[in-house]
Amino acid sequence: HKYDFGLIGLGVMGRNFILNVADKGFKAYGYDLDPDKVSALKEEGGDLERVNASEDLDTFLSSLQKPRKIMLLVPAGKIVDRVIEDLLPHIDEGDLIIDGGNSLFTDTDRRESYLRNKGIHFFGAGVSGGAKGARKGPSIMPGGSRDAYKEVKPIFEAVAAKYEGEPCVAYLGPKSAGNYVKMVHNGIEYGLMQLTSEIYDLLSKAGMMNNEEMHRIFDRWNKGRLQSFLVEITADILTREDDQGSGQLVDKILDKAKQKGTGKWTSQNAMDLGIPVPSIDIAVSMREISALKADRTKAEKLYGRPQPEVVGKKDLEKVAEEALYFSFIITYAQGLHQLAEASAEYGYDLDLGTIAKIWRAGCIIRAGLLADITVAYQKDPDLPNLLLDADFAKKIKGTLPSARTLVAFGATHGIPLPGLSNSLTYFDAYTSGRLPLNLIQAQRDYFGSHTYERTDKEGIFHTEWEE
Ligand code: 6PG
Repeated sequence: HKYDFGLIGLGVMGRNFILNVADKGFKAYGYDLDPDKVSALKEEGGDLERVNASEDLDTFLSSLQKPRKIMLLVPAGKIVDRVIEDLLPHIDEGDLIIDGGNSLFTDTDRRESYLRNKGIHFFGAGVSGGAKGARKGPSIMPGGSRDAYKEVKPIFEAVAAKYEGEPCVAYLGPKSAGNYVKMVHNGIEYGLMQLTSEIYDLLSKAGMMNNEEMHRIFDRWNKGRLQSFLVEITADILTREDDQGSGQLVDKILDKAKQKGTGKWTSQNAMDLGIPVPSIDIAVSMREISALKADRTKAEKLYGRPQPEVVGKKDLEKVAEEALYFSFIITYAQGLHQLAEASAEYGYDLDLGTIAKIWRAGCIIRAGLLADITVAYQKDPDLPNLLLDADFAKKIKGTLPSARTLVAFGATHGIPLPGLSNSLTYFDAYTSGRLPLNLIQAQRDYFGSHTYERTDKEGIFHTEWEE
């Protein structure tokens, strides 16, 4: 009676994931060097026939059914390589190693080809949904060998979140496709979080709303077209009392946002691919600006901050809802555009409709909007950009005026709305048939003979500008 599934790394995510696997009727075995984590899991699992664990690698590996399915939920980076090296002498051809962490996709490519040469199947499988998701149903984004995927498919489909009965997991593509998709998921996550924080700032500064009022607004929004995990938890956060003092906790939290890299990687790789994702870029930059707390405080003394004009709460709620919806769409559009390009560049052969589908539940960026995005890509799998879909064009046209109003308001009154304004600028540029970049081409040719093309005839031209 061997175990169906092995899991290495019994931290919060690992423990929750393995308990989820066991709940679905698969026998699961955990491994961790830390005996406390091993015993904690055995205790929580209750029945050792169902969930067992060990801090001894041989015991762990000999307990698993072949081909072994070994998932790693350990911090991304060198530890993954170390675990792989520890496993290699003891595992067999045909076994599967699944990296469930947020590994950099190029690391996954390297590991996948290294292990493929040894007959081991390696999967990079992004897991989204935090600790609760891991326990109750995450969204899982696996990439690797299509043939070997069938070995883990039943387990993954059982543990994944369900959207109207459909599991939020699918084989996404070869090599690092799964980690890549998870990386862009996180880039979108950064964008949506930045946008939500800007709207919170506006409601509070321009609407003079307190946390309770803002809670009610986010809560209302979450029942409408903005329905999403991030809007839902924002509503929740706003009413959490500070148990170490009076008032709400959110007001006491230091305004320096940390990051572990996935948002930055999304931006870096978008640059490499030549795909514009400014709503994600600015979200990364804002976390960096937030880190400069001491400088910001000095600069505020030097420059002062304008006192924003106070506007009517009802009007503000409506305009803010529209602008947030608009900029959420633009952010998803940019991330999906990046995925489309990466699919061609790296040979992932991604199906964007499937990706939108498995993001509808379980993951951090789950939102009502993803059902519409799924439909758009099912209608046209080769859609170059969500903005070119007729149904999305209607949604955008309806909310665009509010995005303009808010961006203008922020600029006039000194409320930084970089996510909103980058989303609006992206929209304006993307929908401009002619941009002033003709002038840049002329300048390049002027100072460096870099040549240019013409609008009226084919060919490459150069002008002697200095006569
Ligand atoms: C998820 C999240 C998760 C990520 C956190 C933290 O999908 O469950 O994306 O994987 O670790 O969001 O990311 P940062 O520390 O970079 O904000």
